Amino acid sequence: MTTLYEIHNLKQSYRKDTPILDISDLTIRSEGITGLVGPNGSGKSTLLKVLSFLMPYDSGTLLYRGQPAAGRESVIRREVTYLLQNSFLLSRSVFENIAFGLRLRGTSASEVKAIVRESLTRVGLDPDEFAPRQWYQLSGGEVQRVALAARLALRPRVLLLDEPTANVDEASAQLIMAAAVTEAEQHGTAVIVATHDMPWLYEMSAEIIGLYRGRVTAGAENILQGGWKQEGCHMVRNFPGGQTVYADRADTAAVRAAALDPSCVRVSLSRPQPADPANITAGHLVHLPLERGRNSVLVTADVGGSLLKARVPESDPLCRELYPQREVFYIFPYSSVRWL
Ligand SMILES: Nc1ncnc2c1ncn2[C@@H]1O[C@H](COP(=O)(O)OP(=O)(O)OP(=O)(O)O)[C@@H](O)[C@H]1O
Ligand SMILES: [Mg+2]
Repeated sequence: MTTLYEIHNLKQSYRKDTPILDISDLTIRSEGITGLVGPNGSGKSTLLKVLSFLMPYDSGTLLYRGQPAAGRESVIRREVTYLLQNSFLLSRSVFENIAFGLRLRGTSASEVKAIVRESLTRVGLDPDEFAPRQWYQLSGGEVQRVALAARLALRPRVLLLDEPTANVDEASAQLIMAAAVTEAEQHGTAVIVATHDMPWLYEMSAEIIGLYRGRVTAGAENILQGGWKQEGCHMVRNFPGGQTVYADRADTAAVRAAALDPSCVRVSLSRPQPADPANITAGHLVHLPLERGRNSVLVTADVGGSLLKARVPESDPLCRELYPQREVFYIFPYSSVRWL
């Protein structure tokens, strides 16, 4: 694996004493797709801004392709491009929007024409129809696709996408994600995407980085937020419907959330009787996405209105017995619930 970014002890805050990012160690690979996931406000956009060198950070080290990035930001910025959560276009034609960055780089007029056509095609927009359109003659999904085309035109080595499909129609969303995959698979671009679309990330065998309150967390697929109470020597959280999850007591009284790594959860089709104290939680299956990169299935069940995930190897015969709506039981030790 080649390393694209390496972060050590990076801290960033918008206001004094409120760290928004606090990352001790993080490595991001330079191949394929990397997903940034986490609840709203967990710091995904902030991390993307740091990685795009659009925003300085308070302290820590950031290496880009093995070398400290400090002092080289303006050079690196030519290789890294960032698509905002809500893109906007310049008040000009689609052609001019895409040509703008190319001209700044001194690209010849004939090349600009060819690249604009190719970039529009890559995001599923017919160049003859869309290149002459004005910025106000586009739907929201088309604006986002033109904004992406303008980035692809610059042939970046790193493409940072911030919830690129959050506010667009379904057809545009599919075309945007397809363009991102083509970038990664055919052009060798490193794609880092903040998204809530976990099934898509699993399908793409993306490397997944979970963020919670600015920290990188393992097991970010299952975050059990709020509602924890102390009960004797355990912490307890109730799900609507009467089920309960137990965890080992937290060190601090002010715990709000815990993560549960899906790899620590065993799945059973009947209610088991474990020898050691463990949580046994019943739910109904909702999704069964295949994680291509891991050769496993992310078994996802509805437990009292929350989706809980367990990871089962694809080769496990149990996988053949799983189908949506089926009742399953999750077994996980108290100690596998980790405080955030
Ligand atoms: N310019 C800013 N000034 C002050 N605080 C900010 C600023 N931008 C973001 N924040 C705060 O930083 C925290 C992280 O925000 P960020 O936008 O990085 O989260 P996110 O994970 O991208 O959230 P979402 O999923 O809603 O897009 C939030 O608490 C937010 O209020
Ligand atoms: Mg965001």
